[in-house]
Amino acid sequence: MKMEDFGPVKEAPNNIFWHKGRISRHERECILGQKGIVLWFTGLSGSGKSTLANAVAEKLNAQGKLTYTLDGDNLRHGLNKDLGFTVAERMENIRRTGEVSRLLVDAGLIVLAAFISPLREDRAQLRQMLGRDYIEVYVDCDLAICEARDPKNLYRKARAGEIEEFTGISSPYEKPENPELIVHTDQESFEECVGKIISYLERYFEQG
Ligand SMILES: Nc1ncnc2c1ncn2[C@@H]1O[C@H](COP(=O)(O)OP(=O)(O)OP(=O)(O)O)[C@@H](O)[C@H]1O
Ligand SMILES: [Mg+2]
Repeated sequence: MKMEDFGPVKEAPNNIFWHKGRISRHERECILGQKGIVLWFTGLSGSGKSTLANAVAEKLNAQGKLTYTLDGDNLRHGLNKDLGFTVAERMENIRRTGEVSRLLVDAGLIVLAAFISPLREDRAQLRQMLGRDYIEVYVDCDLAICEARDPKNLYRKARAGEIEEFTGISSPYEKPENPELIVHTDQESFEECVGKIISYLERYFEQG
């Protein structure tokens, strides 16, 4: 093994080099005995993204798989705490999270990302960023049902004008056109939705 195999090349734009590490993603995946992947849950607030992402994580963990859940709300407490809800800030929220997902997938983890991610353009960016590692799960639920659930009292506040730019009320949600998977949480039971996602993953991993 020669040192130059791992060192930077001599030229790079803006003098920012890529330092190639000695350990590959494949080697990390072999240690873990799994393949890295991102399940990206998109849907209205209250549609069930966090509930399903956590349930799927529990099932996978019980099978000995290492997962990490990235939740929109949680990231806004730290990494994304400087961002609000304008279109530009939502885009940046998704971009940063996409990059974090990319690092975690490179680490060999199964990433469960629960973000409203309302704009097609942002999701297209994620797909481009993550390539074959990006699995879009559309958590479909009628707005009226989400509003009736209102697990965080946010719809009530949005209707009262206390929250600006609230998805589905005063800010758009653009339905995914070609998601890998759709769960209808207003028609299918929680168990059915979890089962559907787990079956999809099993097929995906079997195909290699
Ligand atoms: N089939 C189902 N799948 C998932 N959740 C369901 C289903 N049926 C009812 N629910 C309920 O819907 C609610 C969904 O809330 P949850 O916090 O998961 O939504 P969310 O999409 O993460 O919203 P937000 O974008 O605000 O974080 C929960 O109270 C959950 O119990
Ligand atoms: Mg949530």
